[in-house]
Amino acid sequence: MITGKTKIIGIFGDPVEHTLSPLIHNEAFQYLGLDYCYVPFHVKKEYLKDAVFAIKALNIKGVNITVPHKEVVIQYLDEVSEEAKYIGAVNTILNNEGTLKGFNTDSQGFVLSLKDEGILIKDKKFLVLGAGGAAKAVVYGVLKEGGEVYIYNRTLSKAWATKERFNNLGLIEVVNTIDKSVTERMQVIVNATSLGLKKDDPMPLSPELLLSEHIYCDIVYPETPLMKEAEKIGCKVIGGTGMLLWQAIAAFEIWTALQAPVEIMKKTLYKVLTK
Ligand SMILES: NC(=O)c1ccc[n+]([C@@H]2O[C@H](COP(=O)([O-])OP(=O)(O)OC[C@H]3O[C@@H](n4cnc5c(N)ncnc54)[C@H](OP(=O)(O)O)[C@@H]3O)[C@@H](O)[C@H]2O)c1
Repeated sequence: MITGKTKIIGIFGDPVEHTLSPLIHNEAFQYLGLDYCYVPFHVKKEYLKDAVFAIKALNIKGVNITVPHKEVVIQYLDEVSEEAKYIGAVNTILNNEGTLKGFNTDSQGFVLSLKDEGILIKDKKFLVLGAGGAAKAVVYGVLKEGGEVYIYNRTLSKAWATKERFNNLGLIEVVNTIDKSVTERMQVIVNATSLGLKKDDPMPLSPELLLSEHIYCDIVYPETPLMKEAEKIGCKVIGGTGMLLWQAIAAFEIWTALQAPVEIMKKTLYKVLTK
């Protein structure tokens, strides 16, 4: 029931129709009996500045930011958290009595999705495929947890720029080409490219380069062709659904300052993805 006291949370994106976030968060608000409501806002590029201003003007409590606004939005905020500054992207905004602070919970989402599967990041070697916004969130999380990053990207200059960005956080090396001599040295392989979403996408890595000892992570969800191949090979496989869940949990806790109902959010997400 919406009342005069209901706190509004939103998501700004273009497109935004496909988002699962309203489902996950509204179920969690309802479960905890919180007077909050999460709504999608289709915000086109040219209106982003106005939309961010409207967070203050309309006293919206917080928003998620999704494609294509995660990087551009930073210039309109009053404060930016340390991880969002490093990553150069914001996916969560908190309106703290008129001060807008940006966070990046994608990074925490990736880390927590591994922890949830009992995987320790510290001292493990990660081959990260991709150097876009999501890859940078993965790299930040891995380095902060004490893992080593080996980064490969189709556009090599972006891999080098990512190394520059994170150099002072830990060990990060650029990989020019991937062959078995590279993958054999790795414990975890992460697809952080956008490949695997569309039916005719090529695989981000040849399955022949995977070993049964590898942990294979994909940030694309719910399942990619390479995840299926990795399972056949005997790898431990972690899909992007966990990252999606845990970034939402972290955002929920930023907005409400309460512990999120993890099991309810998990159940809601998996139910809608297996429909
Ligand atoms: N699970 C989650 O919670 C979560 C969170 C955030 C994002 N994601 C997913 O992560 C994916 C990437 O998002 P993003 O924001 O990082 O996108 P982005 O900034 O556009 O980056 C895309 C990356 O994919 C690479 N790529 C695209 N097409 C390629 C191709 N044909 N061959 C080789 N590499 C290719 C790009 O390489 P170039 O630099 O060479 O173009 C770049 O590294 C999306 O599918 C998104 O839905 C998932």
